[in-house]
Amino acid sequence: MGTAKRQPWVVGVSGASGTPYAASVIRALLAAGEAVDLIVSRAARLTILDETGISFRDAHWRADLAAWLDVDEDALADVRYWSAGDFAAGPSSGSYPAKGMLVVPATTGAVAGIALGLSKDLLQRVASVTLKERRPLVVCVRETPLNGVTLKHLVELDAQGAVVLPASPGFYAGGSTVRELVDFVAGRVLDAVGVPHSLYLRWEGELGAAARQTGGAGGAPAEGE
Ligand SMILES: Cc1cc2nc3c(=O)[nH]c(=O)nc-3n(C[C@H](O)[C@H](O)[C@H](O)COP(=O)(O)O)c2cc1C
Repeated sequence: MGTAKRQPWVVGVSGASGTPYAASVIRALLAAGEAVDLIVSRAARLTILDETGISFRDAHWRADLAAWLDVDEDALADVRYWSAGDFAAGPSSGSYPAKGMLVVPATTGAVAGIALGLSKDLLQRVASVTLKERRPLVVCVRETPLNGVTLKHLVELDAQGAVVLPASPGFYAGGSTVRELVDFVAGRVLDAVGVPHSLYLRWEGELGAAARQTGGAGGAPAEGE
């Protein structure tokens, strides 16, 4: 007899624009009954502040995360938080029972650090551990345009077995709001690791079907236009 072992997904939030992608991924993991270990890089505090107005604090992470995700703190019972400077954190060891890691959004700096194995902070260390343990690693890079060295790092990540998943919403799922486009990217992140969700309408082989269900992504002209 014994309680089931907690096996979390590690979500690493680095300091790229696109913090709503991270919020959507975390919400959907929790909705799917998955445990989450969260790491927020130092730079990500700036993007969270810039994009949400929330000052993310280690000492008050639960309240700050609840505000960021727009959920009650009770909904975060299965979230564990690790400070980005804590190299003694559980997930920094391959013996920690993580399922894998999702870096959402990923900066070009994080892409470089993970590709080169720099481990400059806990986020990069856990990504290196995830690769060495041959666990799933999804890197949701957010930058445009991309320079040559980042392109090389992305190829390197792919060669090491990571899924390189650009934060690039598709419009075929009929999304017309920012939230729907964000959820499309988050849904593709979860698809990459086989976590079920209902974040976007899947392509079913019929042109225009999703747009008819949702009202359309094309910004249909108003009557008389
Ligand atoms: C408001 C803001 C937005 C940023 N957006 C991006 C971005 O979209 N992509 C990126 O690669 N870096 C972006 N940066 C720069 C990174 O935060 C910076 O390179 C940082 O060193 C990355 O550190 P990290 O990978 O440890 O989070 C942004 C910085 C700020 C302050």
